Amino acid sequence: MKISSIIDSKEKRVAITPETVKKYIKLGLEVMLPKGFGTSAGFDDDEYKAAGAEIKKTQIIKDADFYVCVKPNLTSKIDIKSGSHLIAMLSPFKNEAALTKIIKAGVNAYALERIPRTTRAQSMDVLSSQSSIVGYRAVIEAIFAYNKIAPLMMTAAGTVRPARVLILGAGVAGLQAIATAKRIGAVVSAFDVRSAAKEQVESLGATFVSVDSDESGDGSGGYAKEMSDDYKKRQAEKLAQSIAASDIVITTAQIPGKSAPILITKKMVESMPRGSVIVDIATETGGNCELSKQDEIVKTKNDVTIIGDSNLAAKVAYDSSQLFARNVYNFVSLMMKDGKLDTSDEIVQATIIKTKKDS
Ligand code: NAI
Repeated sequence: MKISSIIDSKEKRVAITPETVKKYIKLGLEVMLPKGFGTSAGFDDDEYKAAGAEIKKTQIIKDADFYVCVKPNLTSKIDIKSGSHLIAMLSPFKNEAALTKIIKAGVNAYALERIPRTTRAQSMDVLSSQSSIVGYRAVIEAIFAYNKIAPLMMTAAGTVRPARVLILGAGVAGLQAIATAKRIGAVVSAFDVRSAAKEQVESLGATFVSVDSDESGDGSGGYAKEMSDDYKKRQAEKLAQSIAASDIVITTAQIPGKSAPILITKKMVESMPRGSVIVDIATETGGNCELSKQDEIVKTKNDVTIIGDSNLAAKVAYDSSQLFARNVYNFVSLMMKDGKLDTSDEIVQATIIKTKKDS
């Protein structure tokens, strides 16, 4: 059986790296890639060839059995053979029409976002691996846009106070953002609705912002649930004070399958010190800040910069590809039993996209 991928001009990350080429070959698969496939992520054709891949001059290799991709552009026609397996982040909610067409053309589609966040599936969890990188990168973006320094500096010319960084949402991306901001020397605080978050935030040396309420945000599968209106009111009051006292805010709050909760209103942005920075990483699902715009940088009248980059992982494409490719390899190896395709595992089953008619 053959495995390949598709070049996507809008995505710098790749789902096959020279390291995973070797692993696929050990698994009994032939690896075929289009010329220049990994250039955007920093891998060249010679590295792929040395690892054992065959490099083809065509843009798309039509006779592969597996196509593993990061986030293929489903608005353009994906010309792959009936019976093949397309494994990628396919955003099934957003791309329902395009995916229905693909499935009707006989392609089996697997949405990697549906991999459950369980211990057994951890090594395949692309959302977690990419979110960790994004949490780190969000802080780097913020520091770069901030016109002051982050750590405390005591010099003969006087003392510079450290930046105050607030992280909203202490899940995978949020915890990595806390750790990164701490390493840079900022004074860090964080907020989350889940009960386990306080201990995790404090274990990283940050201060937990508590809302005066007994309500817990614990939903199913370790994710958050939507909070009551009373809680939201108390939360907004508490956050208004914290945001007004912050130089940098990184927002990562999400509830699976819903729009991102709005945690920062226009009024809160107006209360921030001049030169402050917000990085809203949840803009793909609507954003956590009322003023953020997906893939834009908004500058407010009071000189607050709001960064809404929805693909921060692509800014560090080399490392994000390495982690993504390993996750995908672990998933594909679960689909191969003794050299034959076997999709019976419950993790694989959870990712299979069915048309509305079949589900
Ligand atoms: P996660 O589910 O691990 O963390 C989200 C956290 O938000 C959870 O801890 C949850 O309890 C918290 N939360 C939910 N409602 C809240 C509320 N009202 N107030 C405070 N906290 C609340 O998710 P993960 O993997 O960390 O991803 C975070 C966000 O980053 C998602 O929106 C995801 O789509 C986005 N993302 C963005 C990327 C980018 O490049 N910009 C790339 C990858 C993910």
